[in-house]
Amino acid sequence: MLAAKLERRDVVVALGGGVIGDLAGFAAGIVRRGMNFVQVPTSLLAQVDSSVGGKTGINSARGKNLVGVFNQPKLVLADTGVLDTLPIREFRAGYAELAKYGLIDRPGFFAWLEENWQKVFAGGEQRTEAIAEACRAKADVVARDEFETGDRALLNLGHTFGHALEAATNYDGSRLVHGEGVAIGMALAHRFSARLNLASPDDAERVEAHLRAVGLPWRMADIPGELPDAEALLGFITQDKKVSRGALTFILTRGVGQAFIAKDVPPSEVLSFLKASHPERLKMSHSR
Ligand SMILES: NC(=O)c1ccc[n+]([C@@H]2O[C@H](COP(=O)([O-])OP(=O)(O)OC[C@H]3O[C@@H](n4cnc5c(N)ncnc54)[C@H](O)[C@@H]3O)[C@@H](O)[C@H]2O)c1
Ligand SMILES: [Zn+2]
Repeated sequence: MLAAKLERRDVVVALGGGVIGDLAGFAAGIVRRGMNFVQVPTSLLAQVDSSVGGKTGINSARGKNLVGVFNQPKLVLADTGVLDTLPIREFRAGYAELAKYGLIDRPGFFAWLEENWQKVFAGGEQRTEAIAEACRAKADVVARDEFETGDRALLNLGHTFGHALEAATNYDGSRLVHGEGVAIGMALAHRFSARLNLASPDDAERVEAHLRAVGLPWRMADIPGELPDAEALLGFITQDKKVSRGALTFILTRGVGQAFIAKDVPPSEVLSFLKASHPERLKMSHSR
């Protein structure tokens, strides 16, 4: 960008998926102390999530997204037609983040997706409507808390378990892409909430059934290859977050559309839950 002698007033256009959006947005944020930039997201994940809200970031050898700036684009232009060429697996992964907004605080949207997901996949009016609703949902949360001092953390529903699973599979996209990790993570967050008697098991079942219906992975056993044991998975979780006085912060739920920030989750509860949900355990109970 410097070699091209770009000026502060020039406009950087991020045309691509979330990786391009994050990289271009970050570069635009630091070159010449901040240039104008526009997001033209081309993946479903980027249209419903990463292009909205102004977070940009790149990975470091020390971890995911550790380097970045808050930098709001001047404009986000999402052409839903470009999604026709997106590989189905990437479309599904983006769909997980789309469904996330229903699970956080829009139960009506989740119910609508349960009815209309096939039309969302097929394209047309329902797809456009779903993407618009997702952008409204994300913009709502970000407007309340742009710099994540509180409520914005709700957008991390499913991400604590999801990030741990991504790390546990060495970020190998052939085994697990981000949105798939989020899908499994959301199902686990609902199951875990039911186990803690915060939500009804029926809600967990409902979330699992929907993810299954659209063809997303929804349990750890759906990840190809071996996973590290429950202790090691907990290790990835505690590495990912600050453990304040021995307790973990999680996004838990009281049911579909009723997510909340729980700051006092004991690691021992997480560990016993991970043990109970671990594929090794399922294998053992099947062979019995
Ligand atoms: N900044 C944020 O708030 C935020 C939020 C969520 C995710 N992210 C980041 O976004 C990234 C994931 O984004 P992603 O899922 O878009 O991944 P991606 O950018 O890697 O795109 C997925 C794949 O689809 C291809 N692709 C994109 N658009 C296409 C199209 N129209 N037709 C055919 N192929 C197309 C890409 O080349 C790539 O191979 C992660 O790095 C994640 O950290 C950022
Ligand atoms: Zn995500």
